[in-house]
Amino acid sequence: MGLTATEEAGLKAAMEAALAYRRTDHDRPICSAEPTPMAQARFREPTPEEGLAPDAVIAELIDRIEPGLMVSTSPRFMGWVIGASHPAAVAADWLTSAWGQVASFADIAPGAAAAEEIAAEWLLDLLGLPPGSGLGFATGATMANFTALAAARTALLDSVGWDVEADGLFGAPEVNVVLGGEAHSSVYLSLRMLGFGAKRVHIAGADDQGRMRPDALAEVLRGLDGPTIVCLQAGNVNSGAFDPFEALVPIAHDHGAWVHVDGAFGLWAAAAPATRHLTAGMAEADSWAADAHKWLQIPYDCGVVIVRDRGAQQRAMGSTASYLPQEERRNPADYAPELSRRARGIAVWAALKALGRSGLAEMVERHCAVAREIAGILRDEPGLSVLNDVVLNQVVLACGEADDPEAGRKTAETLNAVQAAGICYPSAGHWRGRGAMRISVCSGPATLEDGRRSAEAIIDAWRQVSGG
Ligand SMILES: Cc1ncc(COP(=O)(O)O)c(C=O)c1O
Repeated sequence: MGLTATEEAGLKAAMEAALAYRRTDHDRPICSAEPTPMAQARFREPTPEEGLAPDAVIAELIDRIEPGLMVSTSPRFMGWVIGASHPAAVAADWLTSAWGQVASFADIAPGAAAAEEIAAEWLLDLLGLPPGSGLGFATGATMANFTALAAARTALLDSVGWDVEADGLFGAPEVNVVLGGEAHSSVYLSLRMLGFGAKRVHIAGADDQGRMRPDALAEVLRGLDGPTIVCLQAGNVNSGAFDPFEALVPIAHDHGAWVHVDGAFGLWAAAAPATRHLTAGMAEADSWAADAHKWLQIPYDCGVVIVRDRGAQQRAMGSTASYLPQEERRNPADYAPELSRRARGIAVWAALKALGRSGLAEMVERHCAVAREIAGILRDEPGLSVLNDVVLNQVVLACGEADDPEAGRKTAETLNAVQAAGICYPSAGHWRGRGAMRISVCSGPATLEDGRRSAEAIIDAWRQVSGG
């Protein structure tokens, strides 16, 4: 008997609660019923002195947390860029925990490593990236960016005779880093963690959609000598715009630079025929980062890092110790920062089996159609302006005319009213100097009807605020 009665009751109660939640999440008010201070108060108590039975622990957890849950699995949750966790991936993730597999070395968890290996091959195929590239499962796009840039650092410094793994960065030849004017904050964080510094970057200016300008990149590179990394972007976090890879990658490569693409959500555009053109030329880059917990609907957390020169990735990330397996195999730990971690690739395998190539493409294309539907309805409402070209799943909205000094306040009040109404949930942002509402369609089940309901909810809120 592996489980006691109360342990088994706890596991069953968790499954029942999960099912009850996911049966009803499409109709729940999206905004959590309790704001953060109340959610904190529900948990606040002294350190437990005595243990509780597992079923009692789970009952108490559900009781305390449910009022504070943000319903980010709703098809009308459109805040930040957050996926809704595909049920097959959730189920696989439960099993990953129950099986207790550690994805570090293949011989420590052969089945988990095998599932991750095939999921990695499928991802390269679906994204049209070079077969044979190294692929690691990290916590998210932040660590995926970090890993790719670490591999770039290894390879570039090696090319000028410096072993950064052995000798570190003190006294090393300088590595230039070029970013677009709209690079995501996580790229800056990665640069800080890698010892490159967030301020010692060269910025190549962006156009009005946030795309790096080829003339700006050429100009910046003309002034630089030595090892260079150029970071491009697939999917601006606000506008969804893509850097023009076909023009930019050859400019960077002619300079001998390593090209990295941050495609936290935009990389998935490569998996759908209708959006693939946005990624033209992207596969010629040297490394890529994506989030599987965004558009692939993997439960949090799961990022994906892909490096063409898998040897550089292994050198940057791999570690050995006498007590660890020494056999030559594909070891998950060689491709991402952690030695021990949950086997995230099992949920990726399950989502890809459940969706297939056609299901993934259909979902990406449907989400983009929902975004266009929302933008079309909002554009027809006097006083509302869609600020971006809606090329992907992102809509940036401002309320009030551009010359209205109260427009920022009106946008913020409209957003608050939308969130409080609970029908849909966009989040706040800034775009080209204006306070904005960001609408990101990234929830697996979202339909055109969800888009229409969401647009109507936004218009209702705007009319309340504007007295229209
Ligand atoms: C373009 C881009 N890059 C990187 C990230 C960071 O991803 P994560 O939060 O999964 O680390 C995000 C998150 O929204 C993003 O949109």
